[in-house]
Amino acid sequence: MPITALAHPNIALIKYWGKRDTGRNLPAVGSISVTLDALYTRMSLEIPDSLTEDRLTLNGQPAPSLLPRLAACLDSVLGRERPRLSIDSTSNFPVAAGLASSASAFAACVVAADALDGGERSRDVLSNLAGRGSGSAARSLFGGFAELRNREDGVEVTTLLGPDEWPVEVVVAVTSEHKKAVGSGEAMEISRQTSPFYQRWLDEQEHDLAVARDAIAARDFAALGRIAEHNCLKMHSVMWTSRPPMVYWTSATVACLETVRDLAAGGVPVFFTIDAGPQVKALCLPEAADRVARALGETPGVQRILRSKLGEGARVLEAG
Ligand code: DP6
Repeated sequence: MPITALAHPNIALIKYWGKRDTGRNLPAVGSISVTLDALYTRMSLEIPDSLTEDRLTLNGQPAPSLLPRLAACLDSVLGRERPRLSIDSTSNFPVAAGLASSASAFAACVVAADALDGGERSRDVLSNLAGRGSGSAARSLFGGFAELRNREDGVEVTTLLGPDEWPVEVVVAVTSEHKKAVGSGEAMEISRQTSPFYQRWLDEQEHDLAVARDAIAARDFAALGRIAEHNCLKMHSVMWTSRPPMVYWTSATVACLETVRDLAAGGVPVFFTIDAGPQVKALCLPEAADRVARALGETPGVQRILRSKLGEGARVLEAG
């Protein structure tokens, strides 16, 4: 019987960009994110008889190119002498287009692997193991608003507010479903080595985290929006000033920013954030979600809209 875990992607409001240790994949800065409910990765692990190599299918198709990172993640949980596994991963959203697919994949992977092995590891241990696979995945072990802080030997993620404690909504404007040219891990290293703004980015992160943490505690949407947009644009400034420059935006991305800015200027409670891809994620209060989704849906270049409330952390779906 396969063991299946489900994890949701998360979207950072205060971003992780840069590593302090590439070998252990430790982030240079803390970050704050929201975990989405409507998007998910389901990962099933099975130990078939007489399998000599791991086998991975992604949305039903063989995906050998993605196997090495996932196999390393399984090794980190189960040890290198583990049995060979049949891995079946399904996501209900575009993979590798700046929608945090690696976060939900690695979070689901560590939870499923742990369950296969008795399910006794703490959330803290699992979150650190997921973070070795992909830094942002450490946050998908937690629901609602999550904060990742650095500690000496790894990271520590905590829930700032659960998904029902402040029910904001997320509207994603998908402008392209193409795989991105440069993956975030590689792009971060280029930024660290070449952007004249990188050190300033590091220096200001504690301040941005504190402002966002206070805004979340006070449920002050406008204050959260101001610091999240600033932090996002600062991260993109680091990317743009890297050599070679990394510009993930398209004209549709800019059009979506204008839509969000126009809505906000008209008093609609909404703000934007953008990751290492061309999609725009708009956070809004629930009463504004229909209007935000309609306006972004009508914005030139938007291919489709995804909507989500906040969700729970990664979990086992069925065991045994
Ligand atoms: C822009 O977690 O994908 O989405 O640790 O190299 O796998 P790796 O990076 P990853 O980077 C996420 C970058 C971001 C911001 C964020 O999610 O905090």
